[in-house]
Amino acid sequence: PEFTGFRLVNSSTACEGRVEVHVQGAWGTLCASRWDLLDAHVLCHHLNCGFAESIPKGGHSGRGNGPVWRDSFHCDGTEAHLGECPVTALGASPCSHENDAAVICSGHEANLTLCNTPLPESALEAGIAEDMGVVCWGSRQVRLVNGPGRCAGRVEIYYQGSWGSVCDDGWDLSDAAVVCRQLGCGGALEAVGSARFGEGSAQIWLESVNCSGAEAALWDCPAGSWGQHGCGHKEDAGVICSEFMALRLENGTNCSGRLQVFYNGTWGSVCSNSMTPETVSLACKELGCGDRGSLETQRPYGRLSGTAWLDRVE
Ligand SMILES: *[C@@H]1O[C@H](CO)[C@@H](O)[C@H](O)[C@H]1NC(C)=O
Ligand SMILES: *[C@@H]1O[C@H](CO)[C@@H](O)[C@H](O)[C@H]1NC(C)=O
Ligand SMILES: *[C@@H]1O[C@H](CO)[C@@H](O)[C@H](O)[C@H]1NC(C)=O
Ligand SMILES: *[C@@H]1O[C@H](CO)[C@@H](O)[C@H](O)[C@H]1NC(C)=O
Ligand SMILES: *[C@@H]1O[C@H](CO)[C@@H](O)[C@H](O)[C@H]1NC(C)=O
Ligand SMILES: *[C@@H]1O[C@H](CO)[C@@H](O)[C@H](O)[C@H]1NC(C)=O
Repeated sequence: PEFTGFRLVNSSTACEGRVEVHVQGAWGTLCASRWDLLDAHVLCHHLNCGFAESIPKGGHSGRGNGPVWRDSFHCDGTEAHLGECPVTALGASPCSHENDAAVICSGHEANLTLCNTPLPESALEAGIAEDMGVVCWGSRQVRLVNGPGRCAGRVEIYYQGSWGSVCDDGWDLSDAAVVCRQLGCGGALEAVGSARFGEGSAQIWLESVNCSGAEAALWDCPAGSWGQHGCGHKEDAGVICSEFMALRLENGTNCSGRLQVFYNGTWGSVCSNSMTPETVSLACKELGCGDRGSLETQRPYGRLSGTAWLDRVE
């Protein structure tokens, strides 16, 4: 859908509350499980509310009564507004108003204690606060690299200006869950060790990470000191999250076969309802099978097997 407005409601200030989006003439809400700090940061900045301090649990700021949009935003934090962030809605499960997304923005422009980059008080007074919000926020990020999609791969943390990996000692599902949630990638399916997604080449930022699973960010978890470790890149940690999606052709040979989508840990089918030649071409491209194809709905592909993850793909 096209988002034509954004606001925060259910609070005495305009800079915290339930996230509401204006779509097709009505205000609706977003699902907390698909909402992360980078998305929240973009919204806070856009609303002139500084940057995102925290994301309360879903439903913290009351329930909306409009539609709940299934979209997940994949902001990197630098976009001017949410409308510029990549959005996916494919395969997302329904969400109720009990889980409406909320955010608490900084309420003033910046709070130096939230930055790990020391910036002088004078910078604040000089009125570069908004830029600084971005600098502060940019000082720590997490991403998954060298995997088959943005929601699976080797864990990397951006800290003090460079990306580094995480050691797999003690790396488990609770740790992986924090990474997945932080990235808006759903839950954790697997905590991967032994550099299954390749070895990093720069710093190893953390070892002995021991999250309870409830932390808002990986760096809120108990762990060794930054950059202090007894690990090698052979032990780089990775994650496979539930929102990771991939395509394949079941028993496919020669670039033809039944189209399947990997989602939430299972390969499932795709219904052909309203599938356009454009969608088919896109699937072929993504599978590395050229940039055109044709839809076959007759046997042997005609009947679905297993879960159907997607229908009415446009
Ligand atoms: C926000 O929502 C909660 C739960 O619905 C309600 O109890 C509270 O009064 C609301 N606060 C404001 C300021 O609207
Ligand atoms: C994803 O898998 C989990 C566990 O296997 C299950 O509980 C959950 O309902 C699944 N979600 C969807 C959208 O199918
Ligand atoms: C900055 O944030 C810290 C921790 O959240 C808080 O203790 C402090 O009072 C804040 N400072 C200002 C000036 O708001
Ligand atoms: C991880 O934290 C839990 C408490 O949350 C503690 O019981 C456990 O000993 C810790 N594990 C390690 C290896 O430090
Ligand atoms: C795909 O291959 C598996 C074994 O590799 C077989 O059991 C299954 O029947 C095949 N499915 C189709 C649709 O041909
Ligand atoms: C593979 O596809 C090409 C082009 O459609 C066709 O000429 C060829 O016979 C196919 N080979 C097999 C083994 O099906």
